[in-house]
Amino acid sequence: MGILSLITGKAGASGFGSSSTAEQVTDGVDASRLTVIVTGGASGIGLETSRVFALRGAHVIIAARNTEAASEARKTIVETNPTAHIDVLKLDLSSLTSVRAFADQFKSMNLPLNILINNAGVMFCPFQLSRDGVEMQFATNHLGHFLLTNLLLDNMKATAKSTGIEGRIVNLSSVAHFHTYPKGIQFDKINDEKIYNDKMAYGQSKLANLLHAKELSRRLKEEGANITVNSVHPGLIMTNLMRHSFVLMKVIQVATYILWKNVPQGAATTCYVGLNPQVKGVTGKYFADCNLEKTSKLARSDELAKQLWDFSEELIRSAK
Ligand SMILES: NC(=O)c1ccc[n+]([C@@H]2O[C@H](COP(=O)([O-])OP(=O)(O)OC[C@H]3O[C@@H](n4cnc5c(N)ncnc54)[C@H](OP(=O)(O)O)[C@@H]3O)[C@@H](O)[C@H]2O)c1
Repeated sequence: MGILSLITGKAGASGFGSSSTAEQVTDGVDASRLTVIVTGGASGIGLETSRVFALRGAHVIIAARNTEAASEARKTIVETNPTAHIDVLKLDLSSLTSVRAFADQFKSMNLPLNILINNAGVMFCPFQLSRDGVEMQFATNHLGHFLLTNLLLDNMKATAKSTGIEGRIVNLSSVAHFHTYPKGIQFDKINDEKIYNDKMAYGQSKLANLLHAKELSRRLKEEGANITVNSVHPGLIMTNLMRHSFVLMKVIQVATYILWKNVPQGAATTCYVGLNPQVKGVTGKYFADCNLEKTSKLARSDELAKQLWDFSEELIRSAK
């Protein structure tokens, strides 16, 4: 939509823009028949997303690694909306064992699943390996969500089939996907500490979120499944995400304050793509400020998307 629309908050083709809030973009939507999982729903954009989905009547599962914080978040939401239907389940995306345990626990609850919001993330952390031996930003932001989505897909397909309601998967990517390593994804050096750059590793993981959505969307379309998969950039929002680069991000915020959003605005694009009827049937796309947005050239590569899919499957297989 361009920088001017971002600054002025002017609405785009959807009727919404950078200043729209999550409540505004879901106004009048009845989500009372829907069950949604929000990863990282205990803070920041995920918390506001959970609150607004619950406000529209959805049954929300907050999937969080810190279940105490998530229970507090649940309490806060229920204080203002006593009818909010929210459960908290343990999920550590940096552990494939935890992802499997979460999926098993969710399945044992015999619930339908209409919407999956792959929201959780870490940014700019110093080099470290996950429990499965994978670089932490790639492991948390992409690989955990890749496995989680695959494990929940049969449930989503069955729900969409039995209810006739379109399933939706939303990946939280970022404009940072433009700032990645030259080849996009470092398939042969994913865990190489010597060439690790915290900013590019974040960009790489956010590019992976986009490529994952693109390839999954293609596969589901081919199968004829009634499920859409899209990616979003939420905007720039001061949240706990900045914990590894707080001073730098504060300086950037002061210098570019006009480009930043508050949290209700930051959750708007996720809620728009997850709930708004205007987005029905739209799949494999990237949104920012509640409108379609152009991705990087690397994010448009079918070849790279397929390569990432195979690579992710292989990483998961070899981590067993
Ligand atoms: N804020 C921005 O400007 C911005 C811009 C572009 C994209 N995004 C994307 O938006 C998403 C939400 O970020 P946010 O700004 O709302 O940040 P946030 O407040 O830090 O929220 C991220 C959530 O993810 C959770 N999380 C981190 N590691 C996890 C793990 N291993 N397993 C399960 N949950 C984990 C965090 O839990 P803990 O509290 O336990 O760490 C937190 O609840 C992220 O994917 C981010 O990349 C944000």
